[in-house]
Amino acid sequence: MVDRVADYLDELEKYPVASGVGPGEVKSRLPGAAPLKGESMDAVMKDFEEIIMPGITHWQHPGWFAYFPANNSPSSILAEILTAGLGAQCMVWQTSPAATELEEVVTCWLRDMIGLPKDMAGVIQSTASEATLCSLITAREKATGFESNKKGLNSGLVVYASTEAHSSVDKGAKIAGFGEENIRRIPVDENFAMIPEKLEEQIKADRAGGLVPSCVVATVGTTSSGAVDPLEQIGEVCRRNDVFLHVDGAYAGTAAVVPEKRWILDGVEHADSFVFNPHKWMLVNFDCSAYFVKDAGLLVRSLEIHPEYLKTGVDSEVVNFRDWGIPLGRRFRALKLWFVLRSYGLEGIRDIVSRHMELAQEIKKRVEEHEHLELMAPVHFGLVCFRLNDGRGERELEVLNHGFLQNLNETGKMFLTHTMLDKKYVLRMSIGSRTTQARHVDAAWDTIMNTAGEVL
Ligand SMILES: Cc1ncc(COP(=O)(O)O)c(C=O)c1O
Repeated sequence: MVDRVADYLDELEKYPVASGVGPGEVKSRLPGAAPLKGESMDAVMKDFEEIIMPGITHWQHPGWFAYFPANNSPSSILAEILTAGLGAQCMVWQTSPAATELEEVVTCWLRDMIGLPKDMAGVIQSTASEATLCSLITAREKATGFESNKKGLNSGLVVYASTEAHSSVDKGAKIAGFGEENIRRIPVDENFAMIPEKLEEQIKADRAGGLVPSCVVATVGTTSSGAVDPLEQIGEVCRRNDVFLHVDGAYAGTAAVVPEKRWILDGVEHADSFVFNPHKWMLVNFDCSAYFVKDAGLLVRSLEIHPEYLKTGVDSEVVNFRDWGIPLGRRFRALKLWFVLRSYGLEGIRDIVSRHMELAQEIKKRVEEHEHLELMAPVHFGLVCFRLNDGRGERELEVLNHGFLQNLNETGKMFLTHTMLDKKYVLRMSIGSRTTQARHVDAAWDTIMNTAGEVL
């Protein structure tokens, strides 16, 4: 199995990046019921190769420029084999002391690697969505003096995020009971970053209207364009108005390992919580989301449960991560993080992330120099947003760029996705796969040029 995976990683380029199967095609080849008697591994692997592999989209491919990356790496894969073999469920310290204590240690390492304040404590969550939900619940409890945990939420609490913030804020606010009507989307500036003055105006208006401003979610590296909300000013607004501040750095938090990018976290000391995903850009395979909180007591008080069967004799001496997140059961995710951090080192991770950001700058330059390409947002990280623009009307440009994207992806050599920025249809080229080198980006650029020539 190790050889199969190693071969796969060696041969990634032979696959089309995105799977070409149609809806229902994989299901139609699978039986409707589990087999009565066990089958041989040979039989299972044969079907894996013939039925499953054609339906796989290859996230580790060097032509992966879609969404954001979800990198794996050899050391991460090896650690996952150990994790699966150990099969430990790490809900409380007693259920595997090493898992809890390694998690405490590696989250401190991560905190220091990206320059978060030393008074923040870390925990691994499965996703940034889950971490943001934890922050919303903590903010809710803080704003209501823990009354909503007791009596249920008597709404009127308001959540703030920019118009560019991730949909996980909406989902979290729905689950945490704030209600969709109590989510305020704050306008952004020409660089798609939240305008702090607009935030403060809205907070004041809501308070004047008898509502309770309770949580701001700022984003470092928005999904559509990689915009960076100004944490310093937003933090001051939150402090002045006594509002909980959560920072979503799901994608771009990793960039702060590079000293020249530390500015993206300027003002993060104002944050009550922060999340970023080593499972995106830091070579730790999905899932591994690093969540940091200033007041762990507040988080635990918001989420804790104490059924008799979970009580142990050492509860007062140890951390029980079951109360730091939503699920009770927890995977041993710290192991793969530890393997990756030790095998690459801070420098190794910096080199890879810097390479991606340099390649993105090169594409940015080429886009700016091209007479029919338009750069649509600043390039802070590995994400370049652009479109074809030969001067035709907006509606026609949308049709043109939609076709452009489709043709690019149909080559099978690369996979890009789109977004809307300022109501304009935009292609996103997200350079961040561990396997992507300069030659792959050059080849992608040639494909972009040829395809542009075809559709214009
Ligand atoms: C800015 C931002 N926040 C949150 C998320 C959600 O991440 P997850 O899949 O870990 O919940 C994403 C996903 O790309 C994102 O870009």
